[in-house]
Amino acid sequence: MATELSIETVVNGQSVHATVPSNRTLSQFLRDDLGLTGTKVSCALELCGTCTVLLDGSPVSACTLLAAEIDGGDVLTVEGLAGSDGELDPLQRAFLDHGAFQCGFCTPGMLLTAKALLARDPDPSEETIREELHGNICRCTGYVPIVEAIQAAARELRR
Ligand code: FES
Repeated sequence: MATELSIETVVNGQSVHATVPSNRTLSQFLRDDLGLTGTKVSCALELCGTCTVLLDGSPVSACTLLAAEIDGGDVLTVEGLAGSDGELDPLQRAFLDHGAFQCGFCTPGMLLTAKALLARDPDPSEETIREELHGNICRCTGYVPIVEAIQAAARELRR
């Protein structure tokens, strides 16, 4: 039986205090405990990038990271990208404008990987974007519109 652990964290700007089993994954915590089902799980082996969220600004795989490991950390999920007034993040707007998804299952992870990239490199080359996305697998759209959307969002953010 798993030990219960108390954690204090911030998720999408909100303080969260919770008790979690030591074996609970971050994806289970986000989806099942907090109802943040925008974080998707596919391979559950940290291979496909679908479950990517940001922990203290860096991409992590929520399928294998344990909820206990976010204690004291700051988590951003796709639900936290839009402003409190509902205005979409420039990345979300650019994905819409460029048709950068088909089924959309990979999109939350793509958006968060791109968010972290643009935070540290406001003008990434196409090569850098593709390299950054190497751990995020899209099974339907292909990467051209995704890369174009990230470039467009970068331009928008630099204005
Ligand atoms: Fe379907 Fe990327 S839009 S997996």
